[in-house]
Amino acid sequence: MFNSFGEIFRFTTFGESHGKAIGVVIDGVPAGIEFDKEFLINELDRRRPGKNRFATSRNESDTPEVLSGVFEGKTTGTPIAIVIFNKNQKSNDYSNIKDIFRPGHADFTYFYKYGIRDYRGGGRSSARETAARVAAGAVAKMILKEFGIEIEAGVIEIGGIRTENLDYEYAKNSPIFALDREIEKKWMEMIDNARKDHNSFGGAVKLRIKNLPIGLGEPIYYKLDNVLASAMVSINAVKGVYIGNTEAHKLTGLQNNDEISKEGFLSNYSGGVLGGISNGEDVEAEIYFKPTPSIFKPQKSVDVNGNEVEVNLKGRHDPIVAIRGSVVVEAMGACVVADMLMLNATRTIEKLKKIYQ
Ligand SMILES: Cc1cc2nc3c(=O)[nH]c(=O)nc-3n(C[C@H](O)[C@H](O)[C@H](O)COP(=O)(O)O)c2cc1C
Repeated sequence: MFNSFGEIFRFTTFGESHGKAIGVVIDGVPAGIEFDKEFLINELDRRRPGKNRFATSRNESDTPEVLSGVFEGKTTGTPIAIVIFNKNQKSNDYSNIKDIFRPGHADFTYFYKYGIRDYRGGGRSSARETAARVAAGAVAKMILKEFGIEIEAGVIEIGGIRTENLDYEYAKNSPIFALDREIEKKWMEMIDNARKDHNSFGGAVKLRIKNLPIGLGEPIYYKLDNVLASAMVSINAVKGVYIGNTEAHKLTGLQNNDEISKEGFLSNYSGGVLGGISNGEDVEAEIYFKPTPSIFKPQKSVDVNGNEVEVNLKGRHDPIVAIRGSVVVEAMGACVVADMLMLNATRTIEKLKKIYQ
């Protein structure tokens, strides 16, 4: 398996949904960065399950233990290891699907690829793993803070109901990270109804990265936009990413080009990236999540012996994964930008060395 992400700011996650712990080892963090443990706890708390009726009722405190890489409140340049112990597993809920493949989940592919699968809560394929990414993202954000770069995200669409009113400040305190105070109530009703109906909805998240310098991104195969897209699609249940104006494919060049004046760009349809390199505008992307696959309706499937069966699921699940997914989107965005900054720094230093030789 591939469990690491990034070139210089590089993290590796470990652990399963119902194992002893999950965690992350983050390498490539420069020495001397202010390590804000409270911020780390807070970031994990934003993603944590069991907080309200809009998330799975699995109740984890997601308290992180920082094992290494930090001394007297600063990073030391050595790997930062963070572990989160699982406390609220209910593995019995999954005994009835031990030999059965849940439609829409990773059971089928994990079984046929590895021949063995930890069926408890989805094992390694569970989005429990995304808590470890959020921990890595929190550390990335500590680096970005030094550069004045800010990352924010929120829910822009649920079940086909969409807003264009992007209030990122409001989203920060919304129980469903809604970007629109007006539509939030409607979305909450939809979520409640989905839950009552034992069903789920898909949704979309908008990401904005502010104050990026011009020049981040490494053409041709480590472009800012292609790495961002890849990072986002690596998040469980993400099926699509749009960089910049999500209507671009329907427009003409004249409608979609960002004209340039002495003061800068006159619009930002490009979403802050041109030729894979940041152009100094806000980086904007939209990330599309499919509906939660685990629903409580009878569905057709097969067991490991190929017999047709009816699946009736138990357990605790998110009615809409895009909600908590929004926090994961921010985290992955932060990790990509931190990595791009480190790549850029290395190149700059190399260039200077040559000049002064
Ligand atoms: C934050 C988050 C929470 C999720 N919670 C659940 C859940 O409670 N139940 C579920 O079946 N899938 C959940 N998922 C989605 C599955 O992990 C995912 O659909 C599954 O691993 C199959 O992978 P794929 O959809 O990327 O193909 C969640 C995803 C995210 C990002």
